[in-house]
Amino acid sequence: MTLRISVIGTGYLGATHAACLAELGFDVLGVDRSAAKVDALSRGLVPFHEPGLDELVAGHTASGRLRFTTDLAEAAAFADVHFICVGTPQQSQGTAADLTAVFDVAAGLAPHLRHSTVVIGKSTVPVGTAAELAATLRARLPLGVEAEVAWNPEFLREGHAVQDTLRPDRLVFGVTSPGAELVLREIYAAAIERGTPVHVTDLATAELAKVAANAFLATKISFINAMAEISDRAGADVVALADVLGDDARIGRRFLDAGIGFGGGCLPKDIRALAARAAELGAPSIRALLEDVDDINLRARDRAADLAAAMCGGDLDGRRVALLGAAFKPLSDDVRDSPALHVAAALRRRGADVRVFDPAAANNARAVAPELTYVAHVDAALHDADLVVLATDWPELVALDPGRAGALVRSRRILDGRNKLDEEAWTAAGWAFRALGRAAAPVATAPVAPAPAPTPAPTPAPRRPGRLRS
Ligand code: UDX
Repeated sequence: MTLRISVIGTGYLGATHAACLAELGFDVLGVDRSAAKVDALSRGLVPFHEPGLDELVAGHTASGRLRFTTDLAEAAAFADVHFICVGTPQQSQGTAADLTAVFDVAAGLAPHLRHSTVVIGKSTVPVGTAAELAATLRARLPLGVEAEVAWNPEFLREGHAVQDTLRPDRLVFGVTSPGAELVLREIYAAAIERGTPVHVTDLATAELAKVAANAFLATKISFINAMAEISDRAGADVVALADVLGDDARIGRRFLDAGIGFGGGCLPKDIRALAARAAELGAPSIRALLEDVDDINLRARDRAADLAAAMCGGDLDGRRVALLGAAFKPLSDDVRDSPALHVAAALRRRGADVRVFDPAAANNARAVAPELTYVAHVDAALHDADLVVLATDWPELVALDPGRAGALVRSRRILDGRNKLDEEAWTAAGWAFRALGRAAAPVATAPVAPAPAPTPAPTPAPRRPGRLRS
């Protein structure tokens, strides 16, 4: 018989997971305490932007394989297995994760359970949470009913969530019994048959796997942004540097794009939560490491604002700035902890008249930063601009034509906040081009001593003609 599965929490993670389980052929009930969310999803509407998800939700709600409810008792009666996918945001007073929703689900579900089950955590939690959750659950179960807690973290990226869920690159099953492992193997049979590696671990390792993966990615980005700072001081080029590092198979080129840094609903909160947990576990130097990662990341945003001011002669007062991108990354309408919006706000505070354009995130951005001016078309942002800042590397923004853009602006100055633009094309079109970690540096432009070679070295041309200097 097909497994019946409840997915509790239908935010970004839960809605995707529920729809993908339905796609795999399971009968799925999504549960959320927000009646508005349940109502929208029940009508086949996804309340956020994620490529491919609308089709899955619409198709499977229409067929009845995917339903939604606000009622945990209904979930308890319906499902053989329960996934917990609720949010674990940063605490309002502090940096640790707020686990209220996770424990509320366990406490709310347990008394309704009538048959033994596995409760599988997917939310990102501090290591040690699963064991506590099991105790919470056990304390509230009806007599004779058993519930095992397992942990099965997800590694999905926004913008690729459906693909990452249906075709994960690895599976982690944190379990305390062979029975729970079998349940997880049944749920993920399709991926396992395709050869997806499965890591069967204890609960703590499974919880930590997710947090550690995100901390590593964040550290990788901050490392290259640290090298961008060094490059700016030493006159090196961080993009060329990243290419060199990336050719080392042990390092790899991905996540070495320097710029205004990482944001979103995961990496920033996860490194802060891990820092807080490290301190609780008596490891202050690990906390210090992660705090440095956070500091370097936030500093990149301020460095971008400083560079913008330098490009405008040191003063942004009254300058019109076209800020391209508001989402924390391309192909997303998510503006949580968005570096782009942070930079926009910093420029505005320095007196700039900032016009923000984003292909998908303007509405969300307006809700969190209503003081900024949003425009519906990129041309409206560029019109009469004294400075253009690429803040989110949407493909259509990276592909902007420098000639056409140049005809719209007042001054051809562009700050590539993502190190994604074709510098040669922009400078050839007469733009002053700057980027973090690619300073027009003294050693790059100073005369170079002739190399002791048989033919004299050609006189080095300035590498970036037309660059403004800070
Ligand atoms: C991340 C993890 O990648 C994913 O595995 C996890 O499950 C959730 O958190 P996501 O938040 O969707 O996913 O975004 P990701 O693609 O990782 O990008 C995070 C941020 O880092 C973005 O702001 C992006 O612009 C920035 N970034 C990424 C860089 O600044 N440089 C890079 O080289 C890569």
